[in-house]
Amino acid sequence: MGPSAPLRPAKASKSPALKGDIRIPGDKSISHRSFMFGGLAAGETRITGLLEGEDVINTGKAMQAMGAAIRKEGQVWIINGVGNGCLLAPVAELDFGNAGTGCRLTMGLVGPYDFETTFTGDASLSRRPMARVLDPLRLMGVQVKAEDGNRLPVTLRGPRAPAPISYLVPMASAQVKSAVLLAGLNIPGITTVIEPVMTRDHTEKMLKGFGAALDVETDADGVRTIRLEGRGQLVGQTIDVPGDPSSTAFPLVAALIVPGSDVLIRNVLMNPTRTGLILTLQEMGADIEILDPRQAGGEDVADLRVRASELTGVTVPAERAPSMIDEYPVLSIAASFAKGETVMLGLEELRVKESDRLAAVARGLEINGVDCTEGEDWLSVRGRPDGKGLGALSKDAVVATCLDHRIAMSFLVMGLASENPVHVDDCSIIATSFPEFMTIMSGMGGEITVS
Ligand code: S3P
Repeated sequence: MGPSAPLRPAKASKSPALKGDIRIPGDKSISHRSFMFGGLAAGETRITGLLEGEDVINTGKAMQAMGAAIRKEGQVWIINGVGNGCLLAPVAELDFGNAGTGCRLTMGLVGPYDFETTFTGDASLSRRPMARVLDPLRLMGVQVKAEDGNRLPVTLRGPRAPAPISYLVPMASAQVKSAVLLAGLNIPGITTVIEPVMTRDHTEKMLKGFGAALDVETDADGVRTIRLEGRGQLVGQTIDVPGDPSSTAFPLVAALIVPGSDVLIRNVLMNPTRTGLILTLQEMGADIEILDPRQAGGEDVADLRVRASELTGVTVPAERAPSMIDEYPVLSIAASFAKGETVMLGLEELRVKESDRLAAVARGLEINGVDCTEGEDWLSVRGRPDGKGLGALSKDAVVATCLDHRIAMSFLVMGLASENPVHVDDCSIIATSFPEFMTIMSGMGGEITVS
């Protein structure tokens, strides 16, 4: 979606008990990486369960522009990759739309190549900081042309002889870790990434699966040292993408806060770097049963049975932030319906997501009658267990979604349980990560209307 796409307002209203047996589309992080690594590896990669959201499709288009052949047969995406080190110079700029992951990881992937690549995105992505990826690329010898403040559009050109680096990731970011590792794929020698706080490990796991020489050492303090040997061969794989836990969060919280609800959510990725929300909600008293835990394609997967629950506020420690970083907006909605205060700490990274999520959530809660306090890197919410008085306080109370899919979905979930309806200024942005959101929520009985 471009900056000039028309906004589509939507309204969510108090709904009867939600019921359903649902399957959530594929994980966004794994889907991006499936297109990237499949497009890079020699031979054929076959992907089932891929998330067909706009963000991932843009990554697929970028890989096509750099030489990968991508097609869909029935339910299977089939990619014929170029072979490691053999990406082609794209003839036009690569437009990543709203997607930080697609853009930043591809900057790493192609940065060291000795040709020019230009990266663009929508108004949200063009506001987001890129220095976190451009700084390590500069250390490798990559030339960078960027807008003031290291924003998009960015043009990269790799050196004739890129040098491997050892890089301590300065913030908890899987995107930065991944960008450095992906750059290392086309640099001779060992690229080292030191990660003081563990973030989602899909890049490490999947690169190993594609045949990269990569090892991870974790010391007694949990600091991880990841070493990757560049210029090795990558070979196409078969991937079955499990359901996205970050998308699962929306029907899951909806089922917890709408009285009488009972919902089964199948095939959810349960990688421990992604399950912080489930742990937090369980601490709040949520009835979430983890059924049939199993392994699928090297990942933990389970089904979740969720029943409406009486929640109580908790303090969420800062150390947990990386394992639930995308889930704070919807946790804030759960907290609005909990007894007592929920305090969320260590939220500095929320300021640089698709929107300033800390501010967007706080403003949205305020106009919908929730008592909350926004700190520099924390948020506290004082809930109303019965939902009375919550929802739009006036006809002008419309949540500004700021081109942020998770703000739109979170506040639509709120409206399903609050006394008054909740209005959001746009729902079209939801298609970036969860195009089936409206169908799944209304299938469970959620009352959401789009104007
Ligand atoms: C992602 C990493 C996280 C997350 C994003 C997906 C990834 O971003 O918020 O939605 O797939 O690597 P950061 O690395 O900026 O924390």
